[in-house]
Amino acid sequence: MGATVIIGGQWGDEGKAKVVDFLMGDHDVVVRFQGGANAGHTVVSELGKFAFHQIPSGLLYPRVTGILGNGMVIDPFAFLQEFKDLSARGVDMAERLFVSSAAHVVTPVHKLMDNVLETDRKGASIGSTGKGIGPAYADKHMRGGIRMGVFLREKDELFEIIERSIEWNNRIFAAYNAPTLSAETIASDFVGIKDAMEPFIVDTQEMVHRLSADGRRILLEGAQGTLLDIDHGTYPFVTSSSCSVGGAVSGTGLWPRGIRRIIGIFKSYITRVGNGPMPTEIGGRDGDALRERGGEYGTTTGRPRRCGWFDMVAGRYSVLLNGYDEIALTKLDVLSGFSTVKICTGYRSGGGEIASFPQNTDALARCEPIYEEMPGWEERISHARSVEELPVAARRFVERLEKGLGVPITFVSTGPAREETILRSDTFSTVRK
Ligand code: IMP
Repeated sequence: MGATVIIGGQWGDEGKAKVVDFLMGDHDVVVRFQGGANAGHTVVSELGKFAFHQIPSGLLYPRVTGILGNGMVIDPFAFLQEFKDLSARGVDMAERLFVSSAAHVVTPVHKLMDNVLETDRKGASIGSTGKGIGPAYADKHMRGGIRMGVFLREKDELFEIIERSIEWNNRIFAAYNAPTLSAETIASDFVGIKDAMEPFIVDTQEMVHRLSADGRRILLEGAQGTLLDIDHGTYPFVTSSSCSVGGAVSGTGLWPRGIRRIIGIFKSYITRVGNGPMPTEIGGRDGDALRERGGEYGTTTGRPRRCGWFDMVAGRYSVLLNGYDEIALTKLDVLSGFSTVKICTGYRSGGGEIASFPQNTDALARCEPIYEEMPGWEERISHARSVEELPVAARRFVERLEKGLGVPITFVSTGPAREETILRSDTFSTVRK
């Protein structure tokens, strides 16, 4: 049985968690493969509204096994707090939640470093979530990071490893004239959570292969989105992990040919939180209307998201990189009430037209969108359960996106609740054999 992968098709916040939640009925295991506490995945279920950050959102289903994969960077204190909060709300995760011993640890030093670096970048700051993601991945790639397996060590060894790492980072802080942190206090704090963390830590690479061999149906839950990918995104205005499909392999240890189904999640418009170019960004009344109607405020930081019309150039780039089998289109309901809706089909730059997404971020910043304008629709659409129940203009809009992206749109979300969903293909809820 091959795995299903969920990938953010744009700059994150596409509504992946609703799709994951929807698909969990057909899966037994959910694995996060990159990122960390920078993610904010909101699910609305019969138990209420839940915001997941490091714990995979599919865990609302009681029989599902959840794994924080080796590609993640994990803040263990925030993890324990999230575990406690979810447990207090009735989500029992005992003996079904596991953390990779090879995932990297985010320490308070990484969060401080995130802020120090952002301040130092001045006008060119990335707009990081401040969760220490970049510095933790930097330590990993510099081969100076700490892996979650550290919680399996004896307490004195754990103390020493953390203390050494904090002291090393303190020397870098000193160079920035930034305040240093108490290595002893942080090391003691880590020792203080060893007993709570230890039961979660396992070799998840071995585990995912065993579960797969046992026929358990695995869903790989991406965080952020393709345009924030460290390799393929709008560098340097990206996150520090591989959010596109390659990350699902390196961040779990599964084989590329073990992936059978790749689903791209796209919002019916586009948003971005943080800095960096965004050709279709709109200000004024339309931008405000999208933000307010779509509730476009960060789940993790509360920041207002920048909003714009659907960018087909960026969308095609995302299709190219991920090879989606199908697309889930979210938040179509947010477009109700616009007299016309726009789709960016190309860019104008330097007096000419370009149809592909520029690699160079400065070049992207110079691009002006070329829009195709389509009739909008006034009606609310959250009640629609089939394409036929949608206003003709909404149907045409979905068909236009499908044609432009060249991938079947099999799932259309018209509201946050599970039932506010239109399935355009009966393959959607069935994992392909
Ligand atoms: P970092 O991942 O916190 O370093 O932030 C780097 C960039 O990615 C910033 O522009 C963030 O706003 C953005 N980012 C990080 N996580 C998310 C997410 O879950 N959704 C949308 N944007 C994100």
